[in-house]
Amino acid sequence: MKNTIAVVLAAGEGTRFKSGVPKVLHSILGKTLIERVGEKLKNFKKTVIVIGHKGDSVKDTVKKSTVGGKNIIFTLQKKQLGSGDALKKAKGAISGFSGNIVVLCGDTPLIKTDTLIKLLRFHKNEKADCTVLTFEADNPYGYGRVIKEGNRIERIIEEKDASAEIKKIKEVNSGIYVFSSRVLFPALEKISPNNAKKEYYLTDVISVLNEKGSKIVGLKIKNYTEVIGINNRIELAAAEKILREEMLNKLMLSGVTITDPQTTYIDETVKISNDAVILPSTIIKKNTTIKSGSTIGPFAYIKDSKIGRDVEIRASFIYGADIGDGAKIGPFSHIRAGTKIHKNARIGNFSEIKKSVISENTKISHLSYIGDSFVGKDVNIGAGTITCNYDGKLKHKTHISENVFVGSNTNFIAPVKIGKGALIAAGSTITEDVPENTLSIARARQLNKTLKKKKRRGR
Ligand code: UD1
Ligand code: CA
Repeated sequence: MKNTIAVVLAAGEGTRFKSGVPKVLHSILGKTLIERVGEKLKNFKKTVIVIGHKGDSVKDTVKKSTVGGKNIIFTLQKKQLGSGDALKKAKGAISGFSGNIVVLCGDTPLIKTDTLIKLLRFHKNEKADCTVLTFEADNPYGYGRVIKEGNRIERIIEEKDASAEIKKIKEVNSGIYVFSSRVLFPALEKISPNNAKKEYYLTDVISVLNEKGSKIVGLKIKNYTEVIGINNRIELAAAEKILREEMLNKLMLSGVTITDPQTTYIDETVKISNDAVILPSTIIKKNTTIKSGSTIGPFAYIKDSKIGRDVEIRASFIYGADIGDGAKIGPFSHIRAGTKIHKNARIGNFSEIKKSVISENTKISHLSYIGDSFVGKDVNIGAGTITCNYDGKLKHKTHISENVFVGSNTNFIAPVKIGKGALIAAGSTITEDVPENTLSIARARQLNKTLKKKKRRGR
């Protein structure tokens, strides 16, 4: 691979996606199609990506990703005149190079590096001028049909140009090829847009080369799931399913229990240690890490969060949070960005925590909103406690020190600070700081008055 250049065709709009976002920027398991192709090409001497439709956003995505290295060059195809025309646009970036060129499509993201290595080896062993990676499709609809004479490929005929007879051929073009640079660019100059789509087809290079007597062979890949092309959102979902299964299998083999793979969605970027248990209907996304012994789900959604060891998360939404060892979350908790929950803390049903620190052993068990707050260790927050953090313009902080006991249905009108060991009586609305070891009651005194007989209703 070190002496080979890769070219990725990624200028197309992806009309069949009916999208404002270019096709190659749609994602599978949290990663765009173009990143998925790009990351297979890291060992090539150089990768040329042909961009066009909304090319700047494609370029930005690649540059920001782990793919974007110094070996990547972008070239522009201003008008989308076909895959053959797109490949011509790579010529400038390759000039002076003599060797093999691997051409791939940005919409074939499941290809594996091993397969590319095999393809190159085969091409060299065959001493071919061009090798096409092909596969036998159950339903070849939409793919270019491969016309062979013995082992040699003579032509590739596109779906729209194929006769009923040709359409029956099941061996199809994956859109991945190796060309010897010597023959490729002269042949590209000879193709014309005389076809159903009025486009310059890259596949027409095959007939041009064949007429010149070049050697064109095919390597048929058995596992066709690697080379499915993604042209619409049905195919996007099909690719996601394939990759998801692979991912979950990998996790299970590494020691993670996944009770129901059918309803479990985990991005490839997520890291889960062994002996974690993922229960049904759970979605885990982006840069989440989960340590050993934790049980997640059922019905959990976690994104960009750090989950420690032996944590329990049931039926809850968590994003951008850090959850310490042994903490218990849910059911029905909402833990929002910027929150840190320390060891053995407990966040219970219908509690929302935003941008707050909840220290060790603290319990917020029912129906609370804690925002922009610091809560010390061993605090008990009673049911229905609300930090009133927003005055319509600014957000204010609530500071609750260690060992505080907060009675149910308390409002903290922030900014407010509660000293160590304080006791807040149930139903209080706290507007001023409370000193250490103090009982604070801030509620109207109850009055009981006997009603006159005639005023009693219904009795
Ligand atoms: C293409 C092949 C077909 C093959 C299939 C495999 C051609 C003519 N046909 O068909 O034989 O079976 O892939 O998936 O190549 N592109 C550009 N600029 C353009 C047009 C396309 O960069 O002007 C890029 C697209 O972004 C895409 C690739 O070329 O990555 C293929 O184009 P697409 O329109 O998807 O071709 P298919 O009809 O899928
Ligand atoms: Ca395609």
